[in-house]
Amino acid sequence: MFINLYDFLIIIIGVVAASNMSAHNRSKSEENEQSWALVPYDVSQINLFPSFTEKKRTFRFEGIADEIVIEQNWDGQGVSAVVWEAAIELTNYVVANKNLKGARVLELGAGTGLVGIACSKLGAKVTVTDLCEFLPFLSRNVCMNFAENDTNQPVVQELKWGEKHHLYNPNDYDFVIGADIVYIEDTFDDLLDTICYLCRCKTHSSVLSDYSKNTTANRPSLILSAKMRYSREEKFVAKLKRHFKISHVVTVKESKIHIYEGTPL
Ligand SMILES: C[S@@+](CC[C@H](N)C(=O)[O-])C[C@H]1O[C@@H](n2cnc3c(N)ncnc32)[C@H](O)[C@@H]1O
Repeated sequence: MFINLYDFLIIIIGVVAASNMSAHNRSKSEENEQSWALVPYDVSQINLFPSFTEKKRTFRFEGIADEIVIEQNWDGQGVSAVVWEAAIELTNYVVANKNLKGARVLELGAGTGLVGIACSKLGAKVTVTDLCEFLPFLSRNVCMNFAENDTNQPVVQELKWGEKHHLYNPNDYDFVIGADIVYIEDTFDDLLDTICYLCRCKTHSSVLSDYSKNTTANRPSLILSAKMRYSREEKFVAKLKRHFKISHVVTVKESKIHIYEGTPL
């Protein structure tokens, strides 16, 4: 069977368009897979959280004069763009128990930035960190809560656990904090590695080589707020105890949120 040149061109254009389309769909679904891989729950349970669909939430904490306004974008950016209960509990805890005036705080997996913003409002010098792709959203929330010329607003920076912590000098911080960052088992080793490096645990190899000489500087303390959804979170806390003296300072029964303070061994 012969086809003329015109038919041949139409077939070629069709094949090219179809392959472009499937590449586009593939990359879209890969993107979705990637962002859903960061969700701490079975996706079907997400409807249990009506607050996630709110575009804007306002928070007031005793001891902080300003209200904190947080934009959310669950549909667009998933887990990192909503305020998790662990963040609210951690903020309540630091507001009630810590004098952060002048303290240097580094927040891991900051998401919307609620905790870091609150620490700044309490007078701390704060660096909020997260994965690179979520930083524009985090920056927007920071900007919304501080005047442009406010020198005490949190600095927003990338920190991917297990990979980017060497860009940070542990001697620059008094506290390393995190809310609801213990949830993906595949990241546990990297997260632990980053926490141990930043808190200068003597058990951490690069701390021994680079920072152990500085014996006069205080080592940063850890404050972690974790939702104990599954047994994997317990496993992480058990691992943490090999590197920190851990005090279990808060238990919120209804929400299964636990707050731990750690002093590096
Ligand atoms: C459940 S959210 C908690 C967000 C915020 N701390 C809160 O409690 O509202 C977990 C956060 O950890 C960040 N995250 C996940 N894996 C990470 C990694 N490997 N390195 C750095 N951040 C990560 C996510 O982007 C997300 O912002």
